Amino acid sequence: MASIRSMILHFSCLAVVLYIGMLWSWKDTGFPAKRRYGENRSHEGMITGRGPTLRSDLSPSDTTNQASCDGPVTNFVFIKVHKTGSGSTFLVLARFGRNHGMTICYPIHDKHRRLSYNSPNLDRSACQPSLGNYTLLINHAIMNKTAMDRLMAPGTRYIGIVRHPLEHFRSVFFYKYQPAKDSVNPLGKYLDSKVNYKPGRTGMGKLGKPVCQQKNFQAYTLGFPRKLFGSRKKSLLEETLRTVGSWYSIVLITEYWEESLVLLRRTFCWTMYDILHTTRRLHVLRDPKKSARLTDKQIETHRKITPIDYLIYDYFNRTFWERTTKEGPEFWDEVAYFKTLNLQVNNHCTLFQGDKVFPSGKWSREFLADSTFCEELDWTTTQWNSALLLQLERQNEEISRKQDQIESG
Ligand SMILES: *[C@@H]1O[C@H](CO)[C@@H](O)[C@H](O)[C@H]1NC(C)=O
Ligand SMILES: *[C@@H]1O[C@H](CO)[C@@H](O)[C@H](O)[C@H]1NC(C)=O
Ligand SMILES: *[C@@H]1O[C@H](CO)[C@@H](O)[C@H](O)[C@H]1NC(C)=O
Ligand SMILES: *[C@@H]1O[C@H](CO)[C@@H](O)[C@H](O)[C@H]1NC(C)=O
Repeated sequence: MASIRSMILHFSCLAVVLYIGMLWSWKDTGFPAKRRYGENRSHEGMITGRGPTLRSDLSPSDTTNQASCDGPVTNFVFIKVHKTGSGSTFLVLARFGRNHGMTICYPIHDKHRRLSYNSPNLDRSACQPSLGNYTLLINHAIMNKTAMDRLMAPGTRYIGIVRHPLEHFRSVFFYKYQPAKDSVNPLGKYLDSKVNYKPGRTGMGKLGKPVCQQKNFQAYTLGFPRKLFGSRKKSLLEETLRTVGSWYSIVLITEYWEESLVLLRRTFCWTMYDILHTTRRLHVLRDPKKSARLTDKQIETHRKITPIDYLIYDYFNRTFWERTTKEGPEFWDEVAYFKTLNLQVNNHCTLFQGDKVFPSGKWSREFLADSTFCEELDWTTTQWNSALLLQLERQNEEISRKQDQIESG
């Protein structure tokens, strides 16, 4: 019985990661969609980058509470790490990208692997259509700063996301495995079977490899070099963490997602409108088996399996909290304000739809939540990808029209 289960469980490493990565991305980004979204828009101004429909014209410094804001950052890459809540983040970032006329690098399906999992050859042909100077990359990709800097417009900033490794593992595990009726704690049982796991030992099936979905996967996606996964040299690992950290303007923490969004808003000079999001959770673990408590021993076993993910999580969580401390106590007032505002917006959209003006407050400008906004708050990844691709098409048409004019004039 146990061996059948372990066969079912059968977590496999890179080869399967590739395959799953493709499935995931097909599922997430299944373009082309039959219907074209974002076409009949009543507030075209948003496409040209005027931002939210504002009723009053306060300058950003009045409302963002920050001295050093000279306009929003409108070119960034988001490293969308699987199973970290990155799907919800994608929705927020995609809306921002559409509202600000950003140019998406959309991975071409059959070459998706090149972009995502083996980036040495990353170049413009990896995006659809090849245009160059992309300002937005938010679909799954593995961090390669050198290659991505070449692909993206000059000065592009980077956003990452990490989740506590144990919660990440839980999510990966139950995504792949529906718990059997006879086991109250399938995850604990799995970890018990790995209790003798020794890092670096190759005799543990797929876990012997340097990376797989339940082993150092977040670190790998965020660009931590694979060749150091087996290293025990503390100083080298710490130096590498600092290097990886320096690539990112901000790394969001799944456990503190709303706090992360507020820090993102402040870091990138965005408005509070830009980070509003649906409160409907995308994936929830409802089954109690899935959230069953683990013993200290099982948790220790997990630490041994995925040490670099713990290292990277602790590092980014620490630096995140250091930054919030630097922001001062007002940061927490803003977080509270944001959570309330976001709930009010969601209530309005779920219960009333129609138009509603939300007045300006200490951290937010006045904005209008109309039926289009409410509809889009519920959009899926596919719908957002379609809207961004439509925008890209328009941008390309515009470019070729201008070129024609130059040639004929
Ligand atoms: C857009 O609006 C026009 C006119 O209102 C309508 O004929 C068309 O079907 C709409 N297109 C979409 C994709 O909804
Ligand atoms: C990252 O991209 C650069 C430039 O394309 C390439 O030389 C390098 O091998 C890549 N690194 C990895 C780890 O794939
Ligand atoms: C990208 O932008 C740079 C600087 O503005 C420009 O020189 C270059 O021609 C652009 N490349 C493409 C492919 O549009
Ligand atoms: C993240 O860091 C903070 C501050 O050091 C700490 O209180 C918190 O427990 C950490 N969170 C997790 C999930 O480890």
